Amino acid sequence: MYMPQLGLGTFRLQGQQAIDSVSTGLELGYRHIDTAQIYGNEEEVGSALAASNVARDEVFVTTKLWTANLAGDAVAPSLKESLRKLRLEQVDLALVHWPSPGSAVPLRETMEALLAARDAGLSAAIGISNFPVGLMREAIDAVGAQNIATNQVELHPYLQNREVAAFAHQMGIHVTAYMPLAYGKVMEDAVIGRIAARHGATAAQVTLAWLLAKGYAVIPSSTKRANLASNLAASRLQLDADDIAALDALDRGERLVNPEFAPLW
Ligand SMILES: NC(=O)c1ccc[n+]([C@@H]2O[C@H](COP(=O)([O-])OP(=O)(O)OC[C@H]3O[C@@H](n4cnc5c(N)ncnc54)[C@H](OP(=O)(O)O)[C@@H]3O)[C@@H](O)[C@H]2O)c1
Repeated sequence: MYMPQLGLGTFRLQGQQAIDSVSTGLELGYRHIDTAQIYGNEEEVGSALAASNVARDEVFVTTKLWTANLAGDAVAPSLKESLRKLRLEQVDLALVHWPSPGSAVPLRETMEALLAARDAGLSAAIGISNFPVGLMREAIDAVGAQNIATNQVELHPYLQNREVAAFAHQMGIHVTAYMPLAYGKVMEDAVIGRIAARHGATAAQVTLAWLLAKGYAVIPSSTKRANLASNLAASRLQLDADDIAALDALDRGERLVNPEFAPLW
């Protein structure tokens, strides 16, 4: 699977704001868009994609199946509904957004149905999101690590998720860092600010460059053209070993996304 390492997140973006963010992102050069059924913006993402002059095979589109759609007989129909809204014949990546709350649906059932949906052509690749190591093992047992393209998890300087990242690396599963800017918190960080000043860069660029240097995909979001543009330019920023060590030292296990149905981390 070829996934552009720097993508565009769309969580919280609704209506015209979602259309504008994705349209501007595509215009600026983003070629990876991350949406989800629960975001309620697949139609807006679809209309921005349709209106852009970027060819379908040049943009990587991810959606995520909501927890209500994880039963074996719900997976393919719900993915077809996503495709209808996105106006696509296939997504590039379909993720289990969260492990089934309380294991209401056995993970094997969901993973096998998702694999079948992939083989039927609804998605080019499949993966998981918000899976701690134990559940990653179960997903691997169900369909094999070679069929799990990524685990998309919260990962930023304050929550570095090292155990999940190391296990994913060991199993050859790509890590996608969601909420890479800690929802804007990194902008107030003195350590990151000093590194940014030294490079003539922004705190967001330093944070994204650090994640990219570790080999993770990143999917920052922004409603502002200037931020979308400067975040994209993070791929040109080279950090040195001292910068990376300084960011590594910021981990404080600070989880920002922890709904009541979250798995035991
Ligand atoms: N799988 C999951 O369960 C899950 C959960 C959460 C998120 N995600 C994905 O990850 C994506 C990113 O997460 P997120 O959107 O929650 O948080 P984020 O990307 O860490 O942060 C977004 C916030 O940072 C601000 N920002 C962005 N670039 C900036 C810049 N250059 N300078 C200053 N401020 C900047 C944005 O404000 P402005 O709009 O003002 O720029 C926005 O408030 C989501 O959109 C979604 O696609 C997935």
